Amino acid sequence: MACKNNSQAELYTEVQSISTRLDGLRRTLDKFDTLFETLFDTMTLGFAKLKSESLQQADEISSAVGLALKRLEDESIKADVSWSPDGVNYVAGSATQGDEYNRPNNLMLGSLAHNRLLSLPDHRHRQSENNSSLAEPWIYDTVSTVRWSARGASREDLFFSAGFDGTVKQWAFSPVEGAATCELSYPHQDSVITMDLSAPAMGLLATATTHSTDSLRWYSIGDPKPEHIDLTDRKARSVTDFIMCLRFGQSAHNMNYLLSGFASRSVHQDRGPSTSGFLGMWRFDESRVTAINVSPNRQQIFDVAWSLSNDTFLAGQSRRRRAPYIDRSVVRLYSTKQEQMILQFDCPALDINEVGFCAFDENIVTASCTNRATYIWDMRRPDKIMHTLRHDRDAFASVRMEEDTGIRILQWGRSRSELFTGGSDGKLQHWDIRRNPDDVFVDTILDTGVEQMSGALSPTMNEFFIGDAAGSIHLLERSSYLTDEPPIQLDLVDETMVSASTSNNNINNENENDQDTDEAQAQGRQAARQLIESGIITMHPDFGPVQGPKYKPRRKKPQQQQPHSAEQQARNSEIERSKRKASVSLSGLDRILPITMGDASTSNGTHTGGPKYDPTFTQRVIDAAGPNAHPRVKEVVSSLIRHIHDWAREVDLTADEWWEGLKLINWAGQMTDAKRNEGQLVCDVIGLESLVDEITYKKASEAADVATQSAILGPFYRDNPPQLKKGDSISHNTPADAVVAYMYGTVVDAVTKKPLQGVKLDVWEASTNGLYEQQDDNQVEHNLRGQFTTDENGEYAWYCIVPTPYPIPFDGPAGKLLQVLDRHPYRPSHIHLIALVDGYKPLTTQIFDKNSKYLDDDSVFAVKDDLIVDFIDRKGDPKATKELRYDIALVPIPKQ
Ligand SMILES: [Fe+2]
Repeated sequence: MACKNNSQAELYTEVQSISTRLDGLRRTLDKFDTLFETLFDTMTLGFAKLKSESLQQADEISSAVGLALKRLEDESIKADVSWSPDGVNYVAGSATQGDEYNRPNNLMLGSLAHNRLLSLPDHRHRQSENNSSLAEPWIYDTVSTVRWSARGASREDLFFSAGFDGTVKQWAFSPVEGAATCELSYPHQDSVITMDLSAPAMGLLATATTHSTDSLRWYSIGDPKPEHIDLTDRKARSVTDFIMCLRFGQSAHNMNYLLSGFASRSVHQDRGPSTSGFLGMWRFDESRVTAINVSPNRQQIFDVAWSLSNDTFLAGQSRRRRAPYIDRSVVRLYSTKQEQMILQFDCPALDINEVGFCAFDENIVTASCTNRATYIWDMRRPDKIMHTLRHDRDAFASVRMEEDTGIRILQWGRSRSELFTGGSDGKLQHWDIRRNPDDVFVDTILDTGVEQMSGALSPTMNEFFIGDAAGSIHLLERSSYLTDEPPIQLDLVDETMVSASTSNNNINNENENDQDTDEAQAQGRQAARQLIESGIITMHPDFGPVQGPKYKPRRKKPQQQQPHSAEQQARNSEIERSKRKASVSLSGLDRILPITMGDASTSNGTHTGGPKYDPTFTQRVIDAAGPNAHPRVKEVVSSLIRHIHDWAREVDLTADEWWEGLKLINWAGQMTDAKRNEGQLVCDVIGLESLVDEITYKKASEAADVATQSAILGPFYRDNPPQLKKGDSISHNTPADAVVAYMYGTVVDAVTKKPLQGVKLDVWEASTNGLYEQQDDNQVEHNLRGQFTTDENGEYAWYCIVPTPYPIPFDGPAGKLLQVLDRHPYRPSHIHLIALVDGYKPLTTQIFDKNSKYLDDDSVFAVKDDLIVDFIDRKGDPKATKELRYDIALVPIPKQ
């Protein structure tokens, strides 16, 4: 490809430049030798030291050049994987080469539901005449990045792939067929190095290419017309010529920001390869994109990562100590709210692959590096490395760090005791960072034998995808990767073996002198043949062995088993041994899909005999209440104790799990203030407030079944809203994308139907950006909020905006609960109302737009059919294009 050739030519020029300079250094060293002899008697020690330093400098510069060039190449061919939000499907992109190994498996779509792996070979170009030795007319290009739409996107069936063929492709996935069709292509002028999707609420796609003047673009998803991000005003052309990373914020705090890290390709005449670069940040407002400056920002940027809980982000950067030494790297913490960085963590590695926050505690920061180590810091002790997670450095002893790609995979599992790293030593390792530093390593989960290039846990954490440098995909189930027993990898099968198995031929023992090996191979082949014949494994024309129609992705935990006879145990151990030998004797082949066999997990819930726990304990706790406790308090709290004890026994609650729950409750309390009620939000996402509301409403409406239904208050109510007159607007800075509506109606007695005068009606709603005024500095105080009073006819009226869906704040414990439960945070479009008047039951409710998304899966379970309304077109009113009539019926309080 032309761009790749250009890139190689530039790299070649850089290497030439450095070679020339190294020659100069060697000549200098020769002169040192001459001087050394002349002045030996008087300056032996001094010159020896000087010579040593010069040699060291030459070596360091040489290494650094190699490293820089290697890294630029490696960054260009990073493999990638992305799961669908439901954790059932995945898409994987990989690097390719334009030679005889070029195959149409650069983009693959996997479906667990269909047990299927499909090739999507659309990122390709026709090979040139000069390369006609290849039978295949197409050259398949590297797919650098893949992204599946996130939970809450308007179309969760979409995924995107970016390729060196200069396109980003938009694919529509069909869950019924387990296949996808390319429905849109976003053309570029050069190889697309990386891309990213914004949070669903923004609907944006950003891309980065190697093009010299048009390297950074963004699109509205679904519209292939590009918008260009201007880099010329940075006065930094020389340091913005290679984009290393691109990340949109994904939380409510940062979803309108885009970060990009750049590296300079230049090589300084005296100081070797440049460590300069650029950290760019852009804010996406309604109609424009603004560059935001942070400092420092002129280092080479390896990777960036956004916080999910606040406005901060991390950047892994180079750091120069003093010329001509290339110092180590550094991880810096920044915020969108201030120009100067906040914190810095010194990293011992030369080069960082990936930085990130701990999924369970954002005080914990990670950097995965090319020296096969991952470093972990705690922000409360930024000067001290908390853990160094080092992979086996002896596995490829001949590989120097400068030529190594190091740790490429870092994934958090279901708690901070589940951290997984994988990379160039071919091992996927499990760490528990709660342990002390000497004991942090738990287990090696998978040894692929070749470099692991990409990896991702599914959103459900049930499957772990690993892609390796040989083009193989490894799909591990949770039940196997977290057991003490190592998963058995059936690394099947080369074509010779397939033909042997499918034609039911004999297996030749060619080497009579190595009977053990042959027996092991025979047993392994037999085991493999049985799996293929039974349909557990099937042969894919492109990818070799994959999961077959009889493959069962989730096995049941073993039931309480009868004791095996000695004969049965012997047979079982023989089968196990044969499987293991299959793994050993048939490994190392191209394009394999290892299938995890066996399940060493044990049932911890079965119990026979007497009571498992002290049967008197709960009653003793309940009986501890004294005689002066209020009867209702006693009733409520005793029941709570009974249920919570039963719950703990039912799930065998561990101390760790209890502690995590306790921290979540404490966290909710700490986050709660005058503007935010996080405890209430936690109750909302587990449905408690809606349930309490239903119970309360049932009681309130017993006397009148035509009363307006209630709904939860929600956490964004504020006391003392502004008093407004009939016909006023509650929208004081109406956004451009808002639709203004006129809402009116009559409040009546639910029994007599008579209009009620003097009813206080509180109304509040979120703006189109999904934020209530107290969450958003850009809205005036009390925007979209007010209190009205019904007139003598019981009527009310106001102008508002047609509501839009929004995510509840998911940067706190409520969001964490949603995340661990694999749920989205969105609420359907709604307006909040409270009606208050003497002599009637207070009414708190919400009304929902019938055209809104999420009516069926409201994150706080507040939707009721009777509360769904229809905004209709409004004619002849210059102030509004929609209108809604909504009458309210209040329940009278029975007179004593
Ligand atoms: Fe709301």
